[in-house]
Amino acid sequence: MCGIVAYKGHKNCYPILLDGLHKLEYRGYDSAGVACLAENGKITVTKRSGKVKQLEDGLKKNNLIENCNGSGIAHTRWATHGKPNQVNAHPHKDQSGNIVLVHNGIIENYDPIKKFLRSKKVKFKSETDTEVLVQLIGYFFNQGKLNFEQSVRAALQRVDGAYGIVVLNKKEPDVMIAARKGSPLVLGIKDKEFFIGSDISPIIKHTQQIIYLEDAQMTIIDGDEFKITSIDEDLSLPKKVEKIDFKIDDYDKGEFKYFMHKEIHEQVDTIRNTVTGRTKKGNIILHGLLDYWHEIKQADKIFITACGTSWHAGLIGKNLIERFAKVPVHVEYASEFRYNKTLVDNKSVVIAISQSGETADTLAAIKKANDCGAITVGICNVPGSSVSRETNCGIFTRCGHEVGVASTKAFTAQISILYLYALKLADSNDSMSKKTIKEHLDFGEGLKKIKHVLNKENEIKKIALKYKNANDFLYLGRGLNFPVALEGALKLKEISYIHAEGYPAAEMKHGPIALVDKDMPNVFIVPKDKTYEKIISNIEEIKSRKGKIIIITDSKDKILKDLANDLIYVPKTNHYMFCVFATIVLQLFAYYIAVGKKLNVDRPRNLAKSVTVE
Ligand code: G6P
Repeated sequence: MCGIVAYKGHKNCYPILLDGLHKLEYRGYDSAGVACLAENGKITVTKRSGKVKQLEDGLKKNNLIENCNGSGIAHTRWATHGKPNQVNAHPHKDQSGNIVLVHNGIIENYDPIKKFLRSKKVKFKSETDTEVLVQLIGYFFNQGKLNFEQSVRAALQRVDGAYGIVVLNKKEPDVMIAARKGSPLVLGIKDKEFFIGSDISPIIKHTQQIIYLEDAQMTIIDGDEFKITSIDEDLSLPKKVEKIDFKIDDYDKGEFKYFMHKEIHEQVDTIRNTVTGRTKKGNIILHGLLDYWHEIKQADKIFITACGTSWHAGLIGKNLIERFAKVPVHVEYASEFRYNKTLVDNKSVVIAISQSGETADTLAAIKKANDCGAITVGICNVPGSSVSRETNCGIFTRCGHEVGVASTKAFTAQISILYLYALKLADSNDSMSKKTIKEHLDFGEGLKKIKHVLNKENEIKKIALKYKNANDFLYLGRGLNFPVALEGALKLKEISYIHAEGYPAAEMKHGPIALVDKDMPNVFIVPKDKTYEKIISNIEEIKSRKGKIIIITDSKDKILKDLANDLIYVPKTNHYMFCVFATIVLQLFAYYIAVGKKLNVDRPRNLAKSVTVE
């Protein structure tokens, strides 16, 4: 989704802003723009539809890049209100040309404000809700009664919706103002330089000293000084500076062509990092939950809420918690949870799962759960993110920054956390013996074997390329592997644009089987467990309708060989780790189909990494 980067300092801002925009590309966008306020008070706005590269070429052509010591704001836009074209791209200016602004989020009451401003003879150039906001700031400022800061505050107090904004004003060139409500903003500080980002990716290269602006806060940078205030009143708030330890490497593809490929391979380490230090002699230590564990273990209802891939992890979590701890779990899409009459109360635990920690629906679900008095637990990858701050307590997945839009390493880390959570709960409510828990915590062998799965890459690639021209896929698995099937299908859809559906293997008889013909590949996830025989019957049903059969299994039985058009073996392990192995195979499978179709794997069309609007 839209990305923001801004710079204020003594350096030329163009290279910093362009580099920042490149770092934000992973979020998904369809146009980009930059505005610089030079020392001579001139504002130059350059925008392009398409990629940051096109913007960069435009700036080079006009000899602008070498040329601006001062302040600058830049934006990647993912269209919501108005077409993805140059006019609608940010930054937007007010009518007087004094004020320029970038905005993430949606101004919901833009229509009445626009009508009001039109009645005051304000003329609009774009179709965006953002232009309404900058015009409103301009309207207040140009009346001459309010200074810049007061004008921004006055405008923000009149808008509904979500925003993260950065604003400049050539009449007060030393000032840069940023504000957030609903949409995240991060302030980076380095001596007399200031960096603002919608996440830390454009900032991390410059400084590790960060302030995460809290909801309804604004920062006013004036010369070398800055203050944090609330949007409601000009009262200085404490500056909570944090040192972040994300690595710059996370933003570098290294030897890989795509971040997604790199991130699939990183799972050797990320799963290990996520569990390391969290178990000791058969005990599970989840520091982030300590203060609330007494209540968590007594809760009689558990809800899991999330979106996309994180929701699939939630389905696995349900299976694990019910299996190990014998507590019923209800899993609901956050977008539904926030509006449904879900029976959450002050005896419930609501687990919200989110890689980014900024997904708007997940945040709204957390708010609802908090309002109902439930204990909210975040499983999240980004320290300082809104999910980590809005929940009562939580556990971080430790995977480093995930750049590829299609989530990979975050998913396997999320299920690792849910595995620990389920075992800890089972331990606390005595639904599993200490001995069995200890056996479950013996990850050593399983973790080592992840490498063997990744070593199958060439084999998986060959099979993937065979099927790259198929139009539809079915992914089928049972029990724990049903969510894995959903996730495999989602990966394929996201990056290859091939239609794919995940189903519980037996459920395929109730509809999807009508789709099966000789051209249709069916991916079966078949661990040698108690559902094995049943899945074989499901495979037979597809086989007899001439569907192509691709099997992922840990069983070397001849029967599978005879049934499969293609077989991918993963190492023998327990059936929890099998899920992880099968997931990695499916990630690589989707990856190679998309690469075979010459698609941009990291930036699939229409998708955004972090969905910050409802
Ligand atoms: C977007 C991303 C998905 C992700 C989902 C939830 O749709 O493209 O990869 O699974 O959001 O994101 P979250 O950050 O909350 O896990």
